[in-house]
Amino acid sequence: MSKKLNVAVVFGGRSGEHEVSVMSARSVVENLDREKYNVIPLYVSRDGQWLPPAQAEAQLGGGDVKALKTAGFDADQSLALVPGVGSTPGRWQGANIQLDQIDIIFPVVHGTYGEDGTLQGMMEMADIPYVGAGVLASALGMDKALMKAVCEQAGIPVLPAFTLTRAHWEATQGSGREELLEQIEKTASYPAFVKPCNLGSSVGISKVRNREELRKGIDEAARFDRKILIEKGLESPREIELSVLGNDHPEVSLPGEIIHGGDFYDYQTKYFETQGQQTQIPAHLTEEQTQKLQELAIKTFLTLDLNGLSRVDFLLDAKGDESIYLNEVNTMPGFTPISMYSMMWKASGRPYHQLLDELIQLGLERHRDRTRNQTTPV
Ligand SMILES: Nc1ncnc2c1ncn2[C@@H]1O[C@H](COP(=O)(O)OP(=O)(O)O)[C@@H](O)[C@H]1O
Ligand SMILES: [Mg+2]
Repeated sequence: MSKKLNVAVVFGGRSGEHEVSVMSARSVVENLDREKYNVIPLYVSRDGQWLPPAQAEAQLGGGDVKALKTAGFDADQSLALVPGVGSTPGRWQGANIQLDQIDIIFPVVHGTYGEDGTLQGMMEMADIPYVGAGVLASALGMDKALMKAVCEQAGIPVLPAFTLTRAHWEATQGSGREELLEQIEKTASYPAFVKPCNLGSSVGISKVRNREELRKGIDEAARFDRKILIEKGLESPREIELSVLGNDHPEVSLPGEIIHGGDFYDYQTKYFETQGQQTQIPAHLTEEQTQKLQELAIKTFLTLDLNGLSRVDFLLDAKGDESIYLNEVNTMPGFTPISMYSMMWKASGRPYHQLLDELIQLGLERHRDRTRNQTTPV
């Protein structure tokens, strides 16, 4: 039998999705096959402190995620990542872990500082293989404006949108501001969706129906980000998602649908008013629609140069002409066995533990591929 792989599962992190990450990591750690893997959990607290396996184990075993202590740990428990120099391997100072003993990192961290390329950059600097998208694809996937611009360029349908910086917004006043609002209205019309560019969980998003609401929506989004996207809104669109898995030859799942009772899939509906919410997998669509969505999901994955996994979300104009638009990509979607990503694969014949095996292999494959690159001009 081949040697067991040492898999470091990193979870928690400095985002609003900290608790979701703990739940995802619990599932990953529980389902990784111990015949194949040694699992080394590492926990990043909500205030950004890296903690060793003993503390991580406690978070994984510790009951209700909402009741966990997530910040303010002892400073002397901190881990520091020290990159290798020459033939001396790097290490995690504070935990006695040499980086050359880690075969791969499985980052189960959602949102900012997890899914946005920053954590990926750290893993690249330390030259450790990892699961999921690289630096650029993660960062692009996180930035709703740039993601759309790149995909639009590749011919993927997206809704028209206006990007505004907070600095620009705050610098305009009087008639200048009215002109700016007119310009935004020309692109986005009403209803429009105002979103912070780099966030998730519907935080800071509002649906606006007139200039007054637009103003308020921009002020609200500007609390969360320095870049704001104002996008043409659809009335009660169908929300269809697909799971993609792979590197250069990605595969796509059957589509799933989120059916919610709210005006839109806002923070409240996502996490609290879950009563009227349902998922339908596979989504009720014509064969033609399914095929088109699958093609677009793969095209999005390749266009953004994604790796490993991604959930690609679309809006279908159900009240209009049934047009399909790419809404967003999630490069580290919620990842418990009952999350959409896993459920769509399950319905497509890929059970959760198999997904974990494949993701690890894909991460290793990507690292091998990158280390093939020559780094000197000779
Ligand atoms: N252009 C739009 N038209 C209609 N509904 C939208 C539009 N953009 C977003 N929404 C609604 O808002 C929700 C959250 O927007 P989304 O861009 O997915 O942000 P997040 O990254 O926070 O999930 C979507 O699931 C959908 O219900
Ligand atoms: Mg979304």
